[in-house]
Amino acid sequence: MATFILAIETSCDETSAAVIGDGKILSNVVSTQADHSKYGGVIPELASREHLKNILPVVKQALEEAKIIKSNLSAIAYTQGPGLIGALLVGSTFAQALSLALGIPSIGIDHMKAHVLAHFIRPPVPDYPFLCLTVSGGHTQLLRVDSPEQMLVLGTTQDDAVGESFDKIGKMLGLPYPGGPVLDRLGRGGDPHRFKFPMANMPGLDFSFSGVKTAVKYFLNKEIKANPSFVSENLADLCASVQFCLVETLMIKLQQAIAETGIRTVAIAGGVSANSGLRAALNSLQETGFCTSYIPELEYCTDNAAMVAMAAWFRYQSGSFTSLEELPYARQTHR
Ligand code: KG4
Ligand code: ZN
Repeated sequence: MATFILAIETSCDETSAAVIGDGKILSNVVSTQADHSKYGGVIPELASREHLKNILPVVKQALEEAKIIKSNLSAIAYTQGPGLIGALLVGSTFAQALSLALGIPSIGIDHMKAHVLAHFIRPPVPDYPFLCLTVSGGHTQLLRVDSPEQMLVLGTTQDDAVGESFDKIGKMLGLPYPGGPVLDRLGRGGDPHRFKFPMANMPGLDFSFSGVKTAVKYFLNKEIKANPSFVSENLADLCASVQFCLVETLMIKLQQAIAETGIRTVAIAGGVSANSGLRAALNSLQETGFCTSYIPELEYCTDNAAMVAMAAWFRYQSGSFTSLEELPYARQTHR
């Protein structure tokens, strides 16, 4: 009899459920909340309410697609944090109640580790140790990954996350939320070297993105004063130039991390790993023979429960379960 685990992800604005059977993903249902778009960002209270509405149908569909029923499950996994606390509470309470009702263990998963472990869903999988640039809407981390549980943060952002920067600059350019994917699409065919924006040079392997945001803001204000149609007339070049600056900032630190650690196996993870510029830059780095790179399939870049299920499969095998008293956490406290 196979071991089936149901995993639930509700850390932000995606309600997602997946089933893993003996280490193989059998279903991955993702329901993206559309309502936030008109507000230009995720409204936490709205996200929690939407999760409450979506969670049951999403879980039902995940079980159906995996062709199993509740009584086949061996454990229930959920995203414990980091994320929006109200949103996390919906998924964690649901998962813990279900595990209690079924008399099976629950497994609380760290969202950032799950992004990294998405690389183990399908071959080729990276060998340990490897470096992972984990880039999402809320985080920007350079990690040394030694095992599914052991990940050392080598560098992190001191202010905005890179996904957040894509989104905030997208907003300045009048793009809908989330700006990252739209900016990526509109920048194709644009000239990435037309406009130059400053790249912060932080000590060590840390990042900073708030300077780029401010520089773009002042630049746009000045240009729009001279020509009110500046943005629409130069949109492709603006998007390409912003993307180049953000991606280059990430790549400089990644190359520095390779040089400092001597680890030549590198991966990217998280929502921003869907970015075409970042994916191309990592491919080029591999072509120079500098490293072997691992780029996740698009389905597993942005938030999804399959990555939570994958992380839970490792935890299940090591017998590391989460007590019902444990609470979700909004922030990662360790470095
Ligand atoms: O991992 P994720 O789905 O959620 C968080 O854990 O935050 O990441 C969402 C972030 C958003 O900031 C979104 O704009 C960004 O990932 N993103 C992209 C692209 N696709 C998603 N940024 C740049 N280019 C993309 N193609
Ligand atoms: Zn995420």
